[in-house]
Amino acid sequence: MTSTTSNDILSADIEGIVSLFDVTPTDTPTPDDERVAKLAAPKFGTVFTDHMARISWRREDGWIHRRIEKYGPLQLDPATAVLHYAQEVFEGMKAYQHADGTVWTFRPEQNAARMARSAHRLALPALPVDDFVAACAALVRTDRAWVPATPDSSLYLRPFMFASEPFLGVRPADEVEFLVIASPAGAYFSGGVKPVSIWVDAEYHRAGPGGTGSAKCGGNYAASLLPQQEAAAKGFDQVCFLDGGTNTTLEELGGMNVFLVMDDGSVHTPELTGSILEGVTRSSILRLAQDRGRDVVERRIPLTELIEDLRSGRVAEVFACGTAAVITPVGRLAGETFDATIGTGEPGELTMAIREELTAIQYGRTPDRHGWLRRLA
Ligand code: COI
Repeated sequence: MTSTTSNDILSADIEGIVSLFDVTPTDTPTPDDERVAKLAAPKFGTVFTDHMARISWRREDGWIHRRIEKYGPLQLDPATAVLHYAQEVFEGMKAYQHADGTVWTFRPEQNAARMARSAHRLALPALPVDDFVAACAALVRTDRAWVPATPDSSLYLRPFMFASEPFLGVRPADEVEFLVIASPAGAYFSGGVKPVSIWVDAEYHRAGPGGTGSAKCGGNYAASLLPQQEAAAKGFDQVCFLDGGTNTTLEELGGMNVFLVMDDGSVHTPELTGSILEGVTRSSILRLAQDRGRDVVERRIPLTELIEDLRSGRVAEVFACGTAAVITPVGRLAGETFDATIGTGEPGELTMAIREELTAIQYGRTPDRHGWLRRLA
């Protein structure tokens, strides 16, 4: 089934910008048989297409030189600002091939708008939404052959922007690069859709009040690496962070937002306090749960309450979500003072139903009643 309310064409404004991209094809295209082999079972984020989209920014000129060029290493001066002060933001999106061979992406304006908000927080320039979407479309059209056709696979798009000016002073850079790279992707977790275990960390925070928590910037992810490593050493797949202000309420997993499904059927997720990423998947799930008549509650979720609700069985399901991971069931939650299996430890019913519905929309298997899809190729 194809989508009913999706945008079959990009706006004339976006198409106009796509046509501004100078395309310089790679002189070393991946041979067809090699590409097919690479597309067979790509490990998340390890295989890249032949090209990348790029737009430069100079304080005096604004955004200039829209281009598609050969994918490859960037030559950076050792003094490049991003290497020292981490002035960088990024996004995560996917391109999905539908049964009729067309290629679509999901709510790209949301990612573009979030990148502009993240950029603002990092004192980087805002890239207009149309430029952002056009860059994704130009790259996907150039590397169309890299969009996987196998079920549940997609072409993961990674738009990012960084301070490229070489200097050591601490001030916003006057030169910035925006790029989009693309990586064929299968499942984010190697075991496929199976419940993950989460360590609730009361020792480290990924963000604090007034910090960069709601921005999608590399520094937040860097701050999550050590806690993640320590949790892995304890045998856990992921870490859930508490708020940095009081160390008492749930925030997010670093790379994913978190949801609880209660035994009364209501769906709860930490409210956006300024230090939680405003996930596009998160907001789509809230909408799909509402459509099902579920009570949806965005609120502060105290850890003490969660522990009590896990003990009493009030928490029926827990899941995490993000573009890369889609919706991932959580089978076990533990921290210094508790260790709980969620339900039977198997994926929850609503978790899997919403996962199926969301992916059916993304892959065009069900009508896109919210008009979330945009056709790229
Ligand atoms: C995404 O879900 O797209 C992200 O950017 C998270 C990242 C940890 C893979």
